[in-house]
Amino acid sequence: MADISIIGAGRLGTSLGRALAERGHRIRALACRSLRSARESRKIVGQGRPVTDVAAAAAAGRVVILCLPDERIRAAAVRLARSGIDWSGKTVLHTSGLLTAEALRPLRKRGAAAGSFHPAQAFPEKGMPPSRFRGISFGLEGDRIALEVAGGLVRDLGGRALIISEAAKPLYHAACILASNYPVVLWQAAAGVLERSGITDREALRLIVPLAEGTLRSVKKLDPEGALTGPIVRGDAGTVRAHLEALRRSAPEYLRLYRENGLAALKIAGKRGLADGKTRAIRALLEGR
Ligand SMILES: NC(=O)c1ccc[n+]([C@@H]2O[C@H](COP(=O)([O-])OP(=O)(O)OC[C@H]3O[C@@H](n4cnc5c(N)ncnc54)[C@H](OP(=O)(O)O)[C@@H]3O)[C@@H](O)[C@H]2O)c1
Repeated sequence: MADISIIGAGRLGTSLGRALAERGHRIRALACRSLRSARESRKIVGQGRPVTDVAAAAAAGRVVILCLPDERIRAAAVRLARSGIDWSGKTVLHTSGLLTAEALRPLRKRGAAAGSFHPAQAFPEKGMPPSRFRGISFGLEGDRIALEVAGGLVRDLGGRALIISEAAKPLYHAACILASNYPVVLWQAAAGVLERSGITDREALRLIVPLAEGTLRSVKKLDPEGALTGPIVRGDAGTVRAHLEALRRSAPEYLRLYRENGLAALKIAGKRGLADGKTRAIRALLEGR
């Protein structure tokens, strides 16, 4: 079990600290900008000295995890490299989906093993339960030793390690955003369209959540291509026309979203064998021709 320091005990850092502590790791320090925030995190994690001094936090751990906002990571690495800490034998990881271990170069130069350790999961609050890490993928990238250390943490958390090359990280992260953030945009749009037909937010949520959960179950059982249902994959141009007319009349701000997603659905329908004539008719409607 490792001595771990968490620098940036915010939404992810605190949830991670709590989960690692539960698995038997020793959380030595929790650093935040404000002591108030660090103390709040300490209450959730149950261990670790709450501090605002990032160097003091880093000195206390053999594994140092930077859960800082992406734009703070390089500056923190520079600052920590100048701090006089002996970095040989330490492993430093950051949790950015986009950045690579290269952002930690000043610490590598001082002898640390460096890596990126990105849980592909959303942590909207500080105190998310340890189960939130179970079964999820972690994008890992970096030095051999850092990958070994990070891989061990992933196993302890019940996750799956996915090794990503340095060059592939931006695409990997864009895919995470498509899978996690953009469906939220579509659910919000669905609630907005329902509101135009007089359905309250509360009722809308009760309609959307089970519908989305059913779709997710189908994706898990089949795959995204096999899980697609609805008028486009059936080739029902009349329904698509009626939707477009209703949106144009009552909710025009959602028309573009409907059209663009419809065109993407049409590609899947093509792979599923939709006849050319039906594909052409629906494309003409969606493209507004
Ligand atoms: N949240 C997620 O869903 C999620 C998922 C995967 C990966 N990530 C990655 O995890 C990282 C952190 O994201 P987050 O959402 O957890 O951010 P967050 O909730 O805003 O937490 C950032 C933490 O960093 C601290 N901090 C900021 N600047 C600092 C500085 N100069 N010195 C010391 N501490 C500083 C903040 O302190 P205060 O509390 O005092 O403000 C806060 O505790 C990012 O790289 C993000 O891409 C996040």
